[in-house]
Amino acid sequence: MRYGACYYPEHWPEDRWPTDAKLMRDAGFNVVRMAEFAWVHMEPSEGRFNFDWLHRAIDLLADHGIQTVLGTPTAAPPAWLAQKRPDIMRVREDGHRCVFGLRQHGCVNSPDFRRASDRIVRAMAGELGKHDAVIGWQIDNEFGQPCYCAVCRAEFQRWLADLYSGLDALNAAWGTTFWSQIYSDWSQIPTPTAAMGPPNPGLGLDYRRFMTSSFDTFQASQIAILRELSPGKPITHNFMGFLPETLDYRQLARDLDFASWDNYPMYRPDLAPARIAVNHDQTRGLKRRNFWVMEQQSGPAGWGTMMSQPRPGQLRLFVYHAVGRGADGILYFRWRPCRYGIEQYWHGILDHDGSTNRRYDEISKVGAELKSIWGELEGSEPVAEVAIINDYDSRFAFQIQKSNPEFAYADHARLYYDALHRLNVTVDVTCCDIDLRRYKIVIAPALFVLKEETAVKLRDYVESGGMLIATFRTGVKDQYSRIYDEPLPARLRDVFGIRVAEYSSPFATEENRIIADGFPESTARLWLDALEPDTAQVLAVYDPGGFAAGQPAITRNSFGSGTAIYVGCAPSQDFLNAFVRAICEERGVTLGPASPPNVEIAVRRKGDTELLFITNHNAEPVSVDSVTAGSELLTGRAVDGGVSLEPYGVAVVRR
Ligand code: GLA
Ligand code: ZN
Repeated sequence: MRYGACYYPEHWPEDRWPTDAKLMRDAGFNVVRMAEFAWVHMEPSEGRFNFDWLHRAIDLLADHGIQTVLGTPTAAPPAWLAQKRPDIMRVREDGHRCVFGLRQHGCVNSPDFRRASDRIVRAMAGELGKHDAVIGWQIDNEFGQPCYCAVCRAEFQRWLADLYSGLDALNAAWGTTFWSQIYSDWSQIPTPTAAMGPPNPGLGLDYRRFMTSSFDTFQASQIAILRELSPGKPITHNFMGFLPETLDYRQLARDLDFASWDNYPMYRPDLAPARIAVNHDQTRGLKRRNFWVMEQQSGPAGWGTMMSQPRPGQLRLFVYHAVGRGADGILYFRWRPCRYGIEQYWHGILDHDGSTNRRYDEISKVGAELKSIWGELEGSEPVAEVAIINDYDSRFAFQIQKSNPEFAYADHARLYYDALHRLNVTVDVTCCDIDLRRYKIVIAPALFVLKEETAVKLRDYVESGGMLIATFRTGVKDQYSRIYDEPLPARLRDVFGIRVAEYSSPFATEENRIIADGFPESTARLWLDALEPDTAQVLAVYDPGGFAAGQPAITRNSFGSGTAIYVGCAPSQDFLNAFVRAICEERGVTLGPASPPNVEIAVRRKGDTELLFITNHNAEPVSVDSVTAGSELLTGRAVDGGVSLEPYGVAVVRR
């Protein structure tokens, strides 16, 4: 287990460093992340390097028992580079080239930027890669800003030429026959900037894939250097959780040793834990193994305005919340807020004045606690029996065509996630390119872009005994974003035993409802598929007042030795809570112990031992009666007939 903070020694006079190191040691830290924005401090002018300060910082911290993760600094290319090679500057979707003065302004396809990036990474790794106290690397910082420059355009054209067997194939794939868009030369192909307007869906989808591949190549080149000069040191990247969808995180995570993400709960006093939990589960799902929180918010935050101060107990709460869901490393962002720069308001553990405070006391308490339970945690991990598919191609395609103005993929997926979360069921939020057969239930929300191979995979999964739940807009588009020329859900009609007879995209003000035997009555929002069963059984129908009165809205089909359920609308959360519970029970999914609202119970397993992380996200005390035996590791007491938690309180129960 790693515990520490993001530290920026370059922002402070060196005579302060020993105080910081001592305070960190006293807080129980064993790791810092450094240097991910310090390019100009390491290479003040082209090819002239200075790592002395970083050596001194690493050594000083190591003397205090604190090791270092180094960030490659490519998210902050310096002014000298921007001036000397203006073509490294990224072009935004609106066509404007970034002006120097913020960060993340490099174009990952720019040969000059690639050269400069590789050079600083090579110099850094050569200098520090074998240092004993350097335990790993983070590549860049929060990838995600696409570029639309001329270099990217030419690169896109080359990428397409590699992908398609020829221009005819591309024209057919994108359907450029529409509006005279047929390309007769690769160099005619544009980038989907704001000046184009809504792109051809095939072009728009391919551009997003191309951007992922561009970041992937950029990252791969840094990884190759690090593997050569800093062998054996694990490499990660700090992703941003479940919401971002400009890049396919799954693809980017492939080359990494482990995944991380940056957790900013913003410390709303009433934050529902599921809002954050889904990000942990998604990050764990990227490699289906434990992960780190590389930045964990440690104080009030904001650029121009500030958000809430964490309430007493909330910093501790979100650490155990993360650890329970598989975090093996937690680094606060940041040690101390900077006195300068646009993030002056982004507080750290300390305040600007550098003295200790309530937050420091709390994180120190957590440091001591974690140390006492590390032995127990080692080698334990959440084990999921249910998967939610997070499909980036579909998310890309929905960005181009939302289908319903109120639709948001992440919110739609979260309806199902939240229902499972209420039951304290462990979920992998993951992708289709894995063996699905290990899961008792697979939920694939709105699988809009259904590749042939994914369709085969889902079919096999059901046929061999799985339980698949899919929702509206499944199998609408092929991998090129062309609409399938067959009734929906294309490629999977026999699996679901239905045909979508008609659909309607309802207005937000429209009232539609579904009625299902044994379940609460529910609204039907966002999309309305009227289903025509072939072999399927009807589970819910639309009520007489709205669209498709009496026609099936939810169906269930036996296929091979498995079952496929199709949900043709977005039901209410209450309905789904009951519906998902019934399916979990039927499938014998291990439900977690019951917990009061906003109290989460996450489980890590090691052999026969279960570690229950019970976190109370309420500002009031609660008691959890469902956990009646075991030992509570933080207090060392035996659990006897229930667990009581103070406001924002935590318990870790071994049983
Ligand atoms: C991100 C970045 C950090 C910092 C914080 C706060 O997560 O990775 O460098 O900018 O946001 O804004
Ligand atoms: Zn570019």
